[in-house]
Amino acid sequence: MSEKIISAENLTKTYVSKAEELTVLRGTSFEIHKGDIVCLLGISGSGKTTVLNIIAGLDVPSSGRVLYSGANIGEWTLNELYDFRLHEIGFIFQEFYLLEHLTALENVMVPMILAEKTEDEAQERALELLAQVGLRRKAMNNPEELSSGERQRVCIARAIANHPSILIADEPTGTLDSKTGDEIMSLLLNMAQLRQMTVIYTTHDPYVTKLATRIFLIQNGLVVENGQSGFDNIEFDETSFKYKFKGDKT
Ligand SMILES: Nc1ncnc2c1ncn2[C@@H]1O[C@H](COP(=O)(O)OP(=O)(O)O)[C@@H](O)[C@H]1O
Ligand SMILES: [Mg+2]
Repeated sequence: MSEKIISAENLTKTYVSKAEELTVLRGTSFEIHKGDIVCLLGISGSGKTTVLNIIAGLDVPSSGRVLYSGANIGEWTLNELYDFRLHEIGFIFQEFYLLEHLTALENVMVPMILAEKTEDEAQERALELLAQVGLRRKAMNNPEELSSGERQRVCIARAIANHPSILIADEPTGTLDSKTGDEIMSLLLNMAQLRQMTVIYTTHDPYVTKLATRIFLIQNGLVVENGQSGFDNIEFDETSFKYKFKGDKT
């Protein structure tokens, strides 16, 4: 088996606001290996984005820890975390977070400029990446001039700009029709596999798990997997309103 890239150990997460405390993760552990394509499936509000943010070092767990290639990211300085997010993690956000006043090209250049590439280098590579995601001719358009699928392509190009080891995509097909969603998933996984990236993506749609090599379910604050996970092996339990692996109790 290939080497472990992420180990999540006993993660808990409770959001505390004035009105209430909400426990989203209840002590969950999982491991991801280099080259895995992990799909995290769960209903809306189950904690998918929370898990991704914690793995990416964008948020901290209430307890438990995340190891990246054996190193505890919770012990890192802000500078080390910044470098980790800039160089090791490519994040495709559910809401895109493209900079609206920049062109597609400039959006893809941003992480490379932050990584201290020259403007010429960044621009050259951004154009190549946009060509690879099929958007070369829209390089000078602003995000508001692009369709959801096209925006998602810009996000893919931006996420892989600094050659991250892990590509994280939060509901990458969430705003797309099923045909465009299929195209985006294939593109995303092709781009990642060509570069030997590990991929972690989320969805609330069991159909979208079909290209994953491992399927994690998130329910009741826990991430679970079973040995024969596969698209055909998942069902929706109407009583508990949750996804489950066939044959598992809810
Ligand atoms: N910053 C936050 N403060 C308070 N509650 C939050 C925060 N972020 C998420 N939540 C709540 O935590 C739960 C899980 O959220 P999230 O991880 O975004 O779920 P998912 O991505 O599966 O829809 C939801 O009920 C959400 O409202
Ligand atoms: Mg979410």
